[in-house]
Parts: sequence; C-alpha cells; structure tokens
Amino acid sequence: MAAQLDWSDLSFKYRKTDKIIISYYKDGQWSAPQASEDFNFHFSAFAGVFHYANSCFEGLKAFRGVDGKVRLFRPDENAKRMQRTGNHIGMAAPSEELFLEMCLQCVKENIDYLPPYGYNASMYLRPLLVGCNPQLGIASSQEVIFAVMCAPVGTYSGAKMLTPGTAALARNYDRAAPNGTGAFKVAANYAVSLYPYNMAHRQGYRELLFLDPATKTKIDEFGSSNFLAIKGDTYVTPLSDSVLPSITNKSLQQVAIDLGLKVEKRAVPVEELAEFDEVNACGTAVVITPICSIDDKKRLEDTAVTRKFEIPSGEECGKTSRKLYDRIRAIQDGAEEDIHSWCVIL
Ligand code: PLP
Ligand code: COI
Repeated sequence: MAAQLDWSDLSFKYRKTDKIIISYYKDGQWSAPQASEDFNFHFSAFAGVFHYANSCFEGLKAFRGVDGKVRLFRPDENAKRMQRTGNHIGMAAPSEELFLEMCLQCVKENIDYLPPYGYNASMYLRPLLVGCNPQLGIASSQEVIFAVMCAPVGTYSGAKMLTPGTAALARNYDRAAPNGTGAFKVAANYAVSLYPYNMAHRQGYRELLFLDPATKTKIDEFGSSNFLAIKGDTYVTPLSDSVLPSITNKSLQQVAIDLGLKVEKRAVPVEELAEFDEVNACGTAVVITPICSIDDKKRLEDTAVTRKFEIPSGEECGKTSRKLYDRIRAIQDGAEEDIHSWCVIL
C-alpha cells in the first residue's frame, strides 16, 4: 500500500510498489503474464544481458484524469518501438496486444501508487526486455523476460515543473556511433552516456546535449530526451538517424500543428543555438524541460567555456513551450479532447 506517499514530493526515483508483471519467451512462445511480488529475477550469470547488454526498455506514463479516469499515453507507440529495438538486437519482443495487456495489468495491480489528479505527477511504466538464457559467445538471446514495472514520479530533475535548467554540449563524447544504435532504445546506449553525464552533473549541468557523431556539427539530442526549439512561430527539431524517435516529440509536433505553428524536422547546425527563442528537452520522463543556457567547451572536462548560448526565454519557460506543455498535459489528464485518440483508458 502507498499509504505514506507525499504526491507533491515525487521526483524520478525508484520506489517499491506492490507488483511487477512478467512474461517469459521460450521456444517461440510467450507465457501467460503473471503478477509477482518478487521483484528479483532468477536466471543464469551467463545470461547475455550481463555480458553483452542483450536488453532494451521503454518508458510511458499513466495519468489520473480530471474526470477520475486512468489514461495511458500512446502505449501502442512504445510497443512498436520495442519491437523495432528487439528486432535490431535479434531478441523476441511482445506483440502490441501483450505489451498493452501487461501495461494495463501493471497499473491495476499498483493502482494505489497512481498519483491523484492535480499534483503534476504520474505513474511511470517501465517495460523491460532482457535476454536470460546462458551463453558464452556473442549472440542474440533466445530466451527473454519481458517485465512491466512502475513507479509514481514527479519531475525528472526533481526541480519544480517547467523550471529551466542548464546544459553543456558534449563535444568530445558521443552517446551513439554513426550507423550505430542511437535510434533504438537499447540499454547499452545509456551505459555509453554515463561517463560524460556524471561529469556534466558534477559540474552542475542538468542536461548534456550530444552532437551528430558523424560530423559533430549538428545537434542530435540530450542523453535522456529529444531536442526541441522554438524560433518565431516554428517548432524545430533535429532530423538525424542517430536520435531516438521520441513519442513525446512526435506528439508535440502534432500539437504544434494543432496550435497553428510550423514544424521543421531538419538538420540543426550547432551555431543555430544562437537563433532560438526557446529550447527544451522533451520526452516521457522530462515531459518538456526548458533549457536556459548551453555551454560549448572544447572538451567537457575543461573549465573554460568557448561559447555560451543564452536562450532568450531565460529563467522562465518560453510562452510557446508553455502552450505545448499545457495542451499535451491537458490531453493526458482528460481535460482537453483527445482528438488524435492517443490515450488508452483503463
Ligand atoms: N531520447 C532518449 C535518448 C531517450 O532516452 C528518451 C526517452 O525515452 C527520449 C529521447 C524521449 O522519447 P519518448 O518521448 O518516447 O519518451
Ligand atoms: C523516458 O523518458 O521514458 C526515458 O526512458 C528516459 C530516461 C529515464 C532513460
């Protein structure tokens, strides 16, 4: 039971809930999903996940609406992306039906942990796919665990919603290789970014902005989220094959069109940072997180900043970004008509 939770004091951290939902894949079949109170997996130390990162995951949210209903935001998109990622690493992934069934079951089994409406909080669902059969050589896993777990969450950074944060450019580190796995949600991508992320955090930056690994001249994305900028009445976001196709970004582009903005999905040269009115990180966990300044340094470890990009919206969330945020959150909360049929109601 979540009896003691303070809904106004949630950030993005692990909290024990009641159940995790699990299905096993073996011999071409998924087992019937089981709700388990045991949060520990029991499988071989030779499993591919431990040695070769045979693993990928998803992230989506459930919201308690203004009308009391529970909504999942675009779970079909997460299911499709997990299939794409699983396929890329040669691992079986659940069907859209199984994915949705287990997400819904996870919310139901942990319903006491779903934050009430009005706290700017939600239930984060973490579907996880891990290769678990013993192996020695490098190979795709033949046996797989698919688990869906959850946690009640507030903002990703722990700061107040829509409070701008600083970012640094990662000139001498990449999160993805050219022709690598940047566009897939493999666990390994996050291990790669830990070293520069830890450094950026030690230096006080909230975010780390990666460049395209092939030419290092264009903006790619943040380590945990996509890049979205506002320039006049235009929504600008990078087109790059090393960026994770974000479901939040895709949705916000549609919201931008609905609000009468233009949308440009194109290469974004680093220098263009000086021309944007508003810059944000966007993603499931960060929602829209405004960025107030971006430091460019030769090397992340340097103290000297070669160029500081001050974003005009400064210490406030930009007006247009605020409109985008309000509209998408209103759809998720059932306060605005879901004209694109994005939400699945429990
Ligand atoms: N980019 C990266 C590297 C991410 O980890 C995430 C989070 O899932 C995103 C972007 C945002 O994607 P989405 O909006 O689908 O959560
Ligand atoms: C998400 O936004 O769902 C993510 O997966 C980002 C991060 C927590 C890894």
